[in-house]
Amino acid sequence: MRKNRNNRRLRLRSKMRPVFSLTLALVLSSFASAGNLEPLKAAPVPENNPQTPAKIELGKKLFFDRRLSGDGTMNCATCHNPELAFTDGLDISLSYPTTKNWRNSPTLIDSAFRKYLFYDGRAKTLEEQALFPMMSAFEMNKNLDYLEEQIQLVPEYRAEFSKVFGGEVTRERIAMAIAAFERTLISKSTPLDRYLKGDESALSEDAKKGLVVFKGKGKCIECHDGADLADDRFYALNVPENPKLLDDPRVTTTMRFVAKVYHYDGYRSLKEDPGRYLITKDKKDWKAFRTPTLRYIAKTAPYMHNGVFETLDQVIGFFDRGGGEGNTVLKPLGLSPDEKRYLKTFMAEALTGEDIVIKNPDVP
Ligand code: HEC
Ligand code: HEC
Repeated sequence: MRKNRNNRRLRLRSKMRPVFSLTLALVLSSFASAGNLEPLKAAPVPENNPQTPAKIELGKKLFFDRRLSGDGTMNCATCHNPELAFTDGLDISLSYPTTKNWRNSPTLIDSAFRKYLFYDGRAKTLEEQALFPMMSAFEMNKNLDYLEEQIQLVPEYRAEFSKVFGGEVTRERIAMAIAAFERTLISKSTPLDRYLKGDESALSEDAKKGLVVFKGKGKCIECHDGADLADDRFYALNVPENPKLLDDPRVTTTMRFVAKVYHYDGYRSLKEDPGRYLITKDKKDWKAFRTPTLRYIAKTAPYMHNGVFETLDQVIGFFDRGGGEGNTVLKPLGLSPDEKRYLKTFMAEALTGEDIVIKNPDVP
């Protein structure tokens, strides 16, 4: 018995060793890369969903098609409006009639680069992600079996699915086409990219000073690095809760509903957003959220997973104070008023590119 157990332990340990050294290597490599900003490169495309012009066009139509919502009033652009950098400009996002959302609508720009999607990282690919809002009771509230039949009956869609996928309408193919469209929503001529490629004149003097604070005293680069200005990790910064979470019964309902769906036992008494914990059930992920991109930040207010900060000044103040009450991640920064101003100028001027203009497609 004992011998057996030891054997098992040994087997486990030898299995774990490569995992451990891999983790170590990853940790080390992430330290090595922290502190770098990189210009945007071509977006990665998964092998099983190659980009084609016809698929992108189909995805665009579906993105704007109100058939994707239960009552026919909403499409993806309702909450990811191209004119608001693919957000809806609200603290807590729009929702299916009679319900209320509980989180802020993030930008879709450069989402092709993200390793995790959603503030809690519950989806890993755009294909997987796209089915969530359609099914979600407080977003589009659509039955997907019904949707497949509805789309299949539209002759134009039938012809396009056949051309693009060589087959009929399925929910997976709907998601694949939408994902292909989303992969075309890429930052355009962002001053930071031009600067990093050698164009000194792309940033004003104040923005350059802000970049110095961003990389130095402000320590922003420790998490907002790489091309997406985000490290694909999760941190519990203890951002204050949005008062609506408990003051508006519809928001409380949504929070507890999601917690129940994710098998959180105490959902009936839940009073705060558990963040990544809902997905991993790992204590260290309690109230942890994914580092968001800072691209197009000038156009994506309000900020944070719950939209609790309306301005960049408020966000900078939050980090300067050392984050939210009781967090163990951040320390006070002691930035001077000038340093805060430079930092804001850097974020507002350098990280937002040209508008990504989408001509509304003719939805069949
Ligand atoms: C009713 C509002 C609403 C609608 C409609 C909606 N979304 Fe969202 N979307 C959100 C909110 C809110 C989040 C963040 C939720 C979270 O993290 O828990 C989100 C997150 C996302 C993300 C993750 C982005 C990131 O960086 O993490 C993608 C991608 C996305 N939505 C695409 C879509 C697509 C595609 C559709 C249409 C099929 C759609 N959304 C419809 C509100 C909406
Ligand atoms: C330890 C990692 C970490 C550091 C350091 C950090 N951030 Fe963040 N940042 C995050 C996380 C995580 C969030 C999302 C928190 C949430 O949604 O509750 C965030 C959110 C933001 C947002 C809001 C983005 C949005 O779209 O809602 C801005 C702006 C921002 N950070 C700027 C900064 C600046 C400026 C600094 C330096 C002064 C900085 N961050 C330092 C991890 C970090």
